[in-house]
Amino acid sequence: MLACATLSMSAVCKTFLVTGATDGIGLATCDQLVRAGNTVLVHGRSPDKVQRVVAELNSLRADAAVGYVADLSSMAAVRRLGAEVAAANPALDGLLNNAGSFDGDYTGERVVTEDGNEYTLAVNVLAPFLLTSLLLPALRASGAGRVVISSSVSQAIVTRQNPDLNALRRTPKPWGPIASHRQNYVGPLPVDCLRGTMNRTIP
Ligand SMILES: NC(=O)c1ccc[n+]([C@@H]2O[C@H](COP(=O)([O-])OP(=O)(O)OC[C@H]3O[C@@H](n4cnc5c(N)ncnc54)[C@H](OP(=O)(O)O)[C@@H]3O)[C@@H](O)[C@H]2O)c1
Repeated sequence: MLACATLSMSAVCKTFLVTGATDGIGLATCDQLVRAGNTVLVHGRSPDKVQRVVAELNSLRADAAVGYVADLSSMAAVRRLGAEVAAANPALDGLLNNAGSFDGDYTGERVVTEDGNEYTLAVNVLAPFLLTSLLLPALRASGAGRVVISSSVSQAIVTRQNPDLNALRRTPKPWGPIASHRQNYVGPLPVDCLRGTMNRTIP
């Protein structure tokens, strides 16, 4: 694989932050972005996993990946991540809010974070909003920054036709991992709130 600068005169090497990049869709996305000549900021919550993924990506191309560790269930950790990324990357071409949780620990039990938030709400909704807000200046600075959010068809019960904004704050009763996952996912309504930033150029 050739470095971006040597691909062609017109090739533009871009920098993307991918959350939840240590597995699944995030990992595959990082692989594709690096193979296309871009730089990726690999986010994960496990230092060991992040280190392993960064090493794998840098074996494809030297200095193609940089790692960041943060547990997105903690808003303090999200703030630290945003500050670290912004300090090292004054201009960011893309943010992929991909990290997601089902019920926190897959036990089917309701998990409450250190901030007092229901775990799925924290990781799937609050963290992407906060991280995006913190990185908007860097995304704007790139001139054409994009924000992409991984969502799920399971949140389709909350629609523009059936809006239930309280679902984003309320604990489903009775609580269940599937009900929580459905309500606490970045869907059409919260995405509307990010209008102008999601999947399009930031004005
Ligand atoms: N795959 C599907 O069919 C499907 C369908 C609908 C929606 N989605 C959504 O698409 C996204 C990616 O799915 P996937 O299947 O690729 O998921 P995955 O393989 O489970 O990977 C999820 C990623 O998010 C990270 N993560 C989870 N909780 C976190 C936390 N509290 N803080 C920081 N990172 C955290 C995981 O870290 P670890 O590696 O440490 O666990 C992992 O890197 C998710 O938002 C998922 O809900 C997927």
